[in-house]
Amino acid sequence: MTQIRILGGNALSGELPISGAKNAALPLMIASLLTDETLTLRNVPRLADVRQLELILANHGAEIVTLSNGEHGAGQTISFTTKTIKDTCAPYELVSAMRASFWVIGPLLAREHEARVSLPGGCAIGTRPVDFYLDGLSALGAQIEIDEGYVVARVPHGRLVGNKVRFPRVSVGATHVVMMAATLAEGTTIIENAAQEPEIGNLAECLNAMGAKISGIGTNRLIIEGVDRLHGATFDVLPDRIETGTYAMAAAMTGGNVLLRNARAETLRAALDILEHVGAEISEAPDGVRVSGPTDFIRPVDVETQPFPGFPTDLQAQFMALMTRARGISKIRETIFENRFMHVAELARFGAHISIDGQVATVRGVEDLRGAQVMATDLRASVSLVIAGLAARGETIVNRIYHLDRGFERLEEKLSACGASVERIGAAHAD
Ligand code: UD1
Repeated sequence: MTQIRILGGNALSGELPISGAKNAALPLMIASLLTDETLTLRNVPRLADVRQLELILANHGAEIVTLSNGEHGAGQTISFTTKTIKDTCAPYELVSAMRASFWVIGPLLAREHEARVSLPGGCAIGTRPVDFYLDGLSALGAQIEIDEGYVVARVPHGRLVGNKVRFPRVSVGATHVVMMAATLAEGTTIIENAAQEPEIGNLAECLNAMGAKISGIGTNRLIIEGVDRLHGATFDVLPDRIETGTYAMAAAMTGGNVLLRNARAETLRAALDILEHVGAEISEAPDGVRVSGPTDFIRPVDVETQPFPGFPTDLQAQFMALMTRARGISKIRETIFENRFMHVAELARFGAHISIDGQVATVRGVEDLRGAQVMATDLRASVSLVIAGLAARGETIVNRIYHLDRGFERLEEKLSACGASVERIGAAHAD
């Protein structure tokens, strides 16, 4: 069994390159199904979720060529060409590992007018239904039924038709899917209460580079004028704001000083503002964002997760790790997912004091954390344990680390280069 072993106590110091964003790369890859021409993506991170999605796209008929394999941290360049869709079914075996693979339903319906896609899996952080996706696609004229764990969708009139879609609450995935589907619909689609996450903007700009007509990018009202066909393009995956925020918190927690190379401050302003309140110093440089830890002590700050531009739920666990060593009490409210406090029990193994009341965690900071044996439960929770381990006294062993490989590229290598003592033990690097 592979584990990560950390000897805590070293302040992070140096340069840490930020990879392409997983949550942008996945929908961009899926968008390649919308055209019979080649979509070439640059700055694709080397992650298990990317490899899993390649299998899913190949099953639909995509020819995938790795043009450069991203050595020396440059990011991969991969081309995706789906001349014809071979299969409009995305089977359970392929889809169950990762929720985002469900999103193929958008391009399949738009291009082939039918899809049979297994209901999604992914991190166990709540029920995560797909009702908004299905209501949105129905509004564009799809007929949908559920059959033995599969969503079966058809467009009886041959082509989706533009319409007004208003999501009852903000959903990143539903916005991606309806936006992709609407690019090839007849007429105009307006998405209201659309997600405004930077990854949505990245996808919209890529779709426009492929010939789509999307306006309102960056706002909560997207207007998509349908076109007859999309063509190929070459496009860059944006830098990962969650990876950026994670390492920023690790730097603050260890009182370090790191340059997060390639990071874009505007994609995580809320988190950086909070870190300043915690006592960290943040400065924007032309080549990234510099974070240096509080020179005296970590201040407690209350945080509530919100859709973008608010504080991201994907940084909640990492922020909680940071607050375990604050001087005082902080409250963290999770408003996006109903079951996203699984890391609390694991953080307690380090000696952290955290209590939960519904969606609110109350953290009473302690002077010192002690290294421990812990278990990774989901993607972002896993990395909160790594951060805690970096700041803890003594040895930490993180078990069940496959979640980390889904979302954090070359984690041990990047942290070690900044002076941390982190190594993978028990098996070779999963690459
Ligand atoms: C995406 C991100 C994930 C992030 C999340 C919120 C990717 C690959 N994943 O997940 O890392 O934590 O956004 O920023 O980009 N909901 C419904 N019905 C639906 C759809 C969603 O009730 O049909 C609910 C969800 O249960 C959740 C909330 O809406 O409570 C937001 O979920 P959503 O934004 O859709 O998250 P994902 O797209 O799955």
